[in-house]
Amino acid sequence: MNPELIRVNKAYEKHIALIQLNRPKELNALNLQVMGEIRDTLMELDNDPEVRVIIITGNERAFAAGADIKQMAGKGAIDMLKIDQFSTWDQIRKTKKPIIAAVSGFALGGGCELVMTCDMVVAAESAQFGQPEIKIGVMPGAGGTQRLPRAVGKVKAMEMALTGNFISAEEALNWGLINKVVPNESYLSEAVRLAKDIAKQSPIAVQLAKESVLKAYEMPLQEALSFERKNFYMLFATQDQKEGMAAFVEKRKPSFKGE
Ligand code: HXC
Repeated sequence: MNPELIRVNKAYEKHIALIQLNRPKELNALNLQVMGEIRDTLMELDNDPEVRVIIITGNERAFAAGADIKQMAGKGAIDMLKIDQFSTWDQIRKTKKPIIAAVSGFALGGGCELVMTCDMVVAAESAQFGQPEIKIGVMPGAGGTQRLPRAVGKVKAMEMALTGNFISAEEALNWGLINKVVPNESYLSEAVRLAKDIAKQSPIAVQLAKESVLKAYEMPLQEALSFERKNFYMLFATQDQKEGMAAFVEKRKPSFKGE
């Protein structure tokens, strides 16, 4: 029997699902099967009304040390074109629910790109981030030359992509790549804390706010502002908007139902 490549707990906490990468011997190298399972799981969780926030994590030693080099080593350009692995990544990017990366140890190459495909990042002090593809004669292919400069700016993205050197969690925090650095033993519990703060909000508002923030990276400002405005108006069609504003006026806590 094949070992489980990822472990999924749909109810890790109330409204919070956990996906754990599970190839510890290979430092969670992201082979095609793992990426396919992540994609399928995210699609399933997106359709599960009980789930409001998703956390992706690895283990203490590695979030993921990149795409599986052994699987790619013998491939030619047309093999890579036919395998079309990036359609999997495109689908992952379309996940409507918020995804938090809980990172400990290595987040390298495709692992760092997976982190950047998530919406927020909580890292252990031990975490190391890098785009070391240059050291094996290639370059980032899943957003590392695009999402990285948007997160950390041109010169730092250049340094990471052209030297392949790793940065520490502290540097990643200072450079704007991650949300917070926490003691090694609490990266997952802190990610859960963040997830809980999101899970108690209206899930429809969360979904539309996520969609709108992502447009900041994809659209010119005027169009993106117009997109944001329409999502804002749309939320006035929800029960959660009525409940949220009534609760404020009545000085009580809102109870959001996702309707
Ligand atoms: C396949 C990997 C791997 C990877 C580690 N392993 N990273 N296998 N693909 N990306 C395997 C090793 O071969 C080894 O298996 C085991 O995991 C432990 O790794 P070691 O190297 O022995 O550990 P250590 O000395 O602690 O070094 C850790 C490391 C190093 C610094 C993270 O493993 C490393 O440099 N890995 C490659 C990082 C990288 O280049 N990533 C980018 C990949 S390209 P064995 O069987 O030998 O014990 C990429 C492109 C993305 O991501 C494009 C889009 C998808």
